[in-house]
Amino acid sequence: MWARLSCRGEGMNRKRLIAGNWKMNGSVVANEALVRAVIAGMEGVNCRVAVCVPAPYLAQVQQLRAGSSLELGAQDVSAHAQGAYTGEVSAAMLREFGTRYAIVGHSERRQYHAESDAMVADKAKAALAEGITPIVCVGETLAEREGSRTEEVVKRQLAAVIHVNGHCISEIVVAYEPVWAIGTGKTATPEQAQQVHAVLRAQLRAASTRDSRIAILYGGSMNAANAASLLAQPDIDGGLIGGASLKAADFLQIIAAADQAGATP
Ligand code: 13P
Repeated sequence: MWARLSCRGEGMNRKRLIAGNWKMNGSVVANEALVRAVIAGMEGVNCRVAVCVPAPYLAQVQQLRAGSSLELGAQDVSAHAQGAYTGEVSAAMLREFGTRYAIVGHSERRQYHAESDAMVADKAKAALAEGITPIVCVGETLAEREGSRTEEVVKRQLAAVIHVNGHCISEIVVAYEPVWAIGTGKTATPEQAQQVHAVLRAQLRAASTRDSRIAILYGGSMNAANAASLLAQPDIDGGLIGGASLKAADFLQIIAAADQAGATP
């Protein structure tokens, strides 16, 4: 079955990845100022930087980023290739705008759009088939953490993606985003995050046939003040940044922290 899976990703290397998730924020005017400031401030850094923008702004940011190393991402992708799916955007459409990444399974989509583990896995597959790297989000709620179910939940969410994508998972990026830390100002401590990242790393190692290191990002109130200590953990390869990615100065400080942290082990 796996032999028939199509994954044409560009693959990741050991450079860190800092990806901004703008969520449903932005305007044509605000985007231009933000993207120009980010591009100017990230010159010479030795890490990957991406912004995952609302779909209507992909074309604008594609133009703004031309000639720079800023990469472009979407916040979702359809599991379907084309057809009667009103409101959805296919991976092929994203690709036409130079989109390199698509976030899949963000907790806000799991929560407000009832996305199941299986649906998230299918979205990852649709992205991979078009050479787009899915940033697969996993994470537990506060109730699940307090019920000591963190490991069980994140492993179940990731297992669904592994099951459907087989050997292609060597092309994905994973983001651990504890739901209780998103937009709350409550960050997981570096130790809490590392503990979960190590679990995910072991699961990916056991499932991946290739020897490449799959990037695992941390997301959840990551900011200029806590980025360095999170990125110092052995299994934290980068960040998926919400609120702080909307302010160029804050986002650039996180990028600088990733640059200083150097390549992943
Ligand atoms: P915040 O950084 O605003 O907590 O959001 C994190 C997130 O959900 C990124 O996808």
